[in-house]
Amino acid sequence: MTIGLFDTHTPLQPLRGEIDDAIQRVIESERYILGPEVGAFEREFADYCTAGYGVGVANGTDAITIALRAMGVGSGDEVVVPSFTFYASAEAIPPTGATPVFCDIDPDTYCITAETVRAALTPRTKAVIAVHLFGNLAPVAEIQALGVPVLEDAAQAAGSVSSAGRPGSLGAAATWSFFPSKNLGAFGDGGMITTSDIDIAERARTLRFHGSHDKVTYEQIGYNSRLDELQAAILRVQLPHLDAWADGRRAAGMHYTEAGLGELVRLPAPAPAAQPAWHLYVVSHPEPAHLEAALAAAQIGCKAYYRLPIHRQAAMRTWGDDVELPGTEVAARTHLAIPMSPVLSRVQVDEVVAAIATVKQ
Ligand SMILES: Cc1ncc(COP(=O)(O)O)c(C=O)c1O
Repeated sequence: MTIGLFDTHTPLQPLRGEIDDAIQRVIESERYILGPEVGAFEREFADYCTAGYGVGVANGTDAITIALRAMGVGSGDEVVVPSFTFYASAEAIPPTGATPVFCDIDPDTYCITAETVRAALTPRTKAVIAVHLFGNLAPVAEIQALGVPVLEDAAQAAGSVSSAGRPGSLGAAATWSFFPSKNLGAFGDGGMITTSDIDIAERARTLRFHGSHDKVTYEQIGYNSRLDELQAAILRVQLPHLDAWADGRRAAGMHYTEAGLGELVRLPAPAPAAQPAWHLYVVSHPEPAHLEAALAAAQIGCKAYYRLPIHRQAAMRTWGDDVELPGTEVAARTHLAIPMSPVLSRVQVDEVVAAIATVKQ
């Protein structure tokens, strides 16, 4: 592979010594679960998001289930969620007792809009999951103006900004994944809930800890879902570099525009007022298989992430049958992720664009 789809290795190389020191620090402390590293990272990450509280959990999927329950979502409720996203955005709803209601996206931004959400609202709607897909930012304020609380699924949006602020501080609460390939990635699984609502934060803190404050008395059926000390220590080393990496991702996006990629394929449109730290750079083309073939021939990575949208997945049949989502169908059929990373150079971008230019228009 001459150019990989992403590069999680190169940006971390200058930090190897600091990361090794952080790992040693945790081993010497002999504190592995819910110790000082998690506490410090929760504060540092919440500050970064300009949110009041951070609650570290085991992964981004648990983060959604726990955050929804902490927001009061339960049996008999409905949660509106896009179908064009990673499966976990919807998978995390049924364990709360609520049912997913799928809404459409704008195929230009790949995000939900106030209009697509409005079409899915019913008197039973308890929350909307606004996925900031590929690093783009869903219009949280416009959706909340419809009168429903928003949970931001910000798993793919670390480092993105908008004139309204940073993801993680825009809705009632937000969820994060630190899966290794994310913009801020751990060396294993990890997740976080950020919120400025102290009640949501407190409920999430209890739910992640078996529904208990002290592991002696148990108030609720909860989860064993904690971010561990080693991952928190590693993430603390990386967090101060997140904005520079995000700038690198934005610069790579600019390079694609300057290299004329927009004349060959449809480029992802930043949502109004958003400066996305592109997690994945996803273009669209009527014949994506032709792009895939051209890129494979040039040994350049690419991937169709969500060819079968969630509402058409077998496990979602109960809630997905009879749902018609035209924007989702277009995006599912035509999208393709091409290389993106904080260190993708102009020379590499030119190579990707040259390979795509070999596809007959
Ligand atoms: C949009 C989105 N939501 C949720 C998740 C779930 O996160 P995790 O894999 O940490 O459970 C991911 C990533 O994997 C994601 O991309």
